[in-house]
Amino acid sequence: MSIPLSEFTRRRKQLMRMMDKHAIAIIPSAPVRVRNRDAEYPYRQDSDFLYLTGFSEPEAVAVLVPGREHGEYVLFCRERDPVMETWHGRRAGQDGAIEQYGADDSFPISDIDEILPGLMEDRDTVYYTMGRDTDFDQKLMGWINRLREQVRAGAHPPHEFISLEYLLHDMRLYKSRSEIKAMKEAARIAVAAHKRAMRACRPGMTEYQIEAELLYEFRRNGAEPAYQSIVGGGANGCILHYTENRDELKDGDLLLIDAGAEHLGYASDITRTFPVNGRFSDAQRELYEVVLEAQAAAIEKTVPGNHWNDPHMAAVKVLTRGLVELGLLKGKPAQLIKEGEYRRFYMHRTGHWLGLDVHDVGDYKLDEEWRLLEPGMVTTVEPGLYIPAGSKGVPKRYHDIGIRIEDDVLVTKDGHDVLTEAAPKHPDEIEALMGEAAAA
Ligand code: GLY
Ligand code: MN
Ligand code: MN
Repeated sequence: MSIPLSEFTRRRKQLMRMMDKHAIAIIPSAPVRVRNRDAEYPYRQDSDFLYLTGFSEPEAVAVLVPGREHGEYVLFCRERDPVMETWHGRRAGQDGAIEQYGADDSFPISDIDEILPGLMEDRDTVYYTMGRDTDFDQKLMGWINRLREQVRAGAHPPHEFISLEYLLHDMRLYKSRSEIKAMKEAARIAVAAHKRAMRACRPGMTEYQIEAELLYEFRRNGAEPAYQSIVGGGANGCILHYTENRDELKDGDLLLIDAGAEHLGYASDITRTFPVNGRFSDAQRELYEVVLEAQAAAIEKTVPGNHWNDPHMAAVKVLTRGLVELGLLKGKPAQLIKEGEYRRFYMHRTGHWLGLDVHDVGDYKLDEEWRLLEPGMVTTVEPGLYIPAGSKGVPKRYHDIGIRIEDDVLVTKDGHDVLTEAAPKHPDEIEALMGEAAAA
């Protein structure tokens, strides 16, 4: 399963159609990052670059030159090199760039200083994402300045710079059929990982042992974590971005796992919260059911024609009402919402776009208004409640309970499709799964 080559061609053509005439787009690959001396972080291609090329090697630059006689899509990449390939791995080379990746023309990356300024000459406008890779920003300025120096010799350097993201990120917001397929697979793998974690969990295990179960499920499916998995027991569940994952899991505590898989570059992003010992306490279940109801209300609002903010407001309403009913907040829900009182226990928003990036690109507002949801958009729906010990005025039985429930929701023509719904989230379902695993 992969994204077909024809789709990358279609994306590049669509982008070129939207660009000004006499323009050029320049998209560099992600830089390699050092972890310690000679050891690098696992390489992850830049999402914009990947979206337009499907090419996952570092040291590459994609250039789109609409109307160029010798081909509109030029890919600079590393040359084939038997010695380097023996040490560091295979390379597509220039022939591979053309034959396997559909480039019209390809040059060695080592020749870019000589060739790219020539491609920019006679172009009025450069589309480029400034400020993401400062080394590349400087190179680009160097090429432009070289052209400027040659003005008296007849050079015509570009004089307009436009942020590439503006066009590209709107394209990325609407997922195609093959992207949705890839996201469904990323979801399927993450669902399996969460179920595996629920089955494996026992009091006395550690958070990293549960993380290992997640990683095992990701890797045996050819996927990797889309982001650092959060595995937080008890009080750690109240730390939104807890990733140390090193404490022991205690009988009577909840465990919050926020973990997603990346497949073909596409992310899933799931959170489930369940009791370490397989049985919710009354206090845990009371809060859990509020979050679950808030999530259901938010998912219900995730349909075409609604505003981006509608699911969030639906979740906030249910959470606030629940907090009042359980005695954690005092007052009238409407007033508490107006004053933002719920933020004591719910301090993040209910979702974000999801795609090649976990927090995917795309504007949330257009002309200062919340954007309308449209078919093909994918968002997370992830309300939560976080009640750390010492929360003033909160009965002790609720202390150190952190709960989040997160699913990935595709907006469809008729409503929505919850891509991650196969991960159990109803308390009875969770208890049944964990009970079976304990008995086995
Ligand atoms: N896993 C990051 C998030 O839920 O936004
Ligand atoms: Mn999320
Ligand atoms: Mn998440």
